[in-house]
Amino acid sequence: MPYPGRGHINPLLNLAGHLSTRGLFVTVVLTEEWLGLLSTSPTPSHPAVQFRSIPNVIPSEHGRANDFNGFLDAINTKLEKPFERLLESLDPPPAAILADTCLSWMAAVGERRRLPVYSLWTMPAAFFSLFYGFEDIFGGESTAALEEIDKKLEQHVKGLNLGDVSSVICSATLKKWVLESFIWARGAKGVIFTSVYELESDIIDSLKSKLSCPVYTVGPCIPYLTLKISLASDYMQWLDSQPINSVLYLSLGSFLSVSVAQMDEIVTGLHESGIRFLVVGRGATSRVQAKLGSTDLVVQWCDQLKVLCHPSIGGFFTHCGWNSTMECVFAGKPMLTFPLFGDQPLNCKLIANVWKVGLNVKEEIEDGNLVGGKAIAKVAKRLMDVEGIEYKEMREKVVELSETVHRAVEEGGSSYCAINAFVEDVSSSV
Ligand code: UDX
Repeated sequence: MPYPGRGHINPLLNLAGHLSTRGLFVTVVLTEEWLGLLSTSPTPSHPAVQFRSIPNVIPSEHGRANDFNGFLDAINTKLEKPFERLLESLDPPPAAILADTCLSWMAAVGERRRLPVYSLWTMPAAFFSLFYGFEDIFGGESTAALEEIDKKLEQHVKGLNLGDVSSVICSATLKKWVLESFIWARGAKGVIFTSVYELESDIIDSLKSKLSCPVYTVGPCIPYLTLKISLASDYMQWLDSQPINSVLYLSLGSFLSVSVAQMDEIVTGLHESGIRFLVVGRGATSRVQAKLGSTDLVVQWCDQLKVLCHPSIGGFFTHCGWNSTMECVFAGKPMLTFPLFGDQPLNCKLIANVWKVGLNVKEEIEDGNLVGGKAIAKVAKRLMDVEGIEYKEMREKVVELSETVHRAVEEGGSSYCAINAFVEDVSSSV
């Protein structure tokens, strides 16, 4: 069972596909709302993946946007009973539970049902490690301690500071929720990362030495299996007609949004830059459309991995969600980073400071809380100067990472072997 959000459901579905091709029978449990939403997008079509739903006991997607704390609260208190009832009725009966790390009540269900529970972390291992070492990193409260925290964060991921993680640790609800998730993850039968071992090897090795359970690094859990299925669409035809590396793709993920004023600055800035761009507008599609030039395109939603892999795409303006980050690394394209919340500022530091495959838009001059259109135009031009040395260096590095990721999922690669090891572990517990 995934946490009910696109950025968590997508990797779990992709992993379900991999597990089923390795011989496991997988039941994916979603709320009725999410099952309905998925019926319009590609899901694993393998006969060994079945879908089951529980009632809509939590606020809808719309409700989540309006009251995130209430949404988290409902996840903690309302899902457990209906899930357990469903578990009792499953045929065949399950051998193990694989659940998002954010569903902390799952440990109690596993105990009552005498089932091993594996914890699935759909963000970078570095973010897991940050919360795993919470006391050690965030222990003190004095000013001197704050400097100490920054030092520890900097050692963790180059350039990371307290401001980058404040969206999580300054919200009491979110902090409590994350810490509870980690209490159960410590006692899980195994922890699964949707990262790629070679991309975060130091952090993963260090976690392996601290956790008492096996760690499986199986990513990227992105839809690379469905890449070859052709999807005829206007935007793919539009991309076909654009020069190589000329288009900047912009998407800010599946559920977070910037303010209307910030979106206006972004679109105005990109328009001023003279660069062609393809924008995922979601709810703001018509507003964005009205500000576009004739060389640009806005869509409500697209097949993101396919778009990123298209030769016309030269770069990605991203909010740095982990799936988007993995998809872009897989596609081998440099990024403009615009992190909003949670793990995204950390992911931004990995992209810009550690891997050096992107430029951080938020480092540009800010006007209050807004990043102004002029600054955006400047940094967008810098990124998309595809003949310039800076772009060439970033592109070379991201292509190297892309090759590493492709090797990881090929037969014998680190993720390929980790999926097999996980399947063996589950099978041996039957
Ligand atoms: C959430 C959190 O915000 C993120 O920080 C965390 O790392 C994962 O969970 P989300 O904001 O949705 O995720 O971003 P992301 O992880 O990038 O996932 C978005 C998914 O939607 C990606 O798989 C992307 O391919 C897909 N998408 C997005 C589309 O398929 N089409 C689109 O048009 C836009």
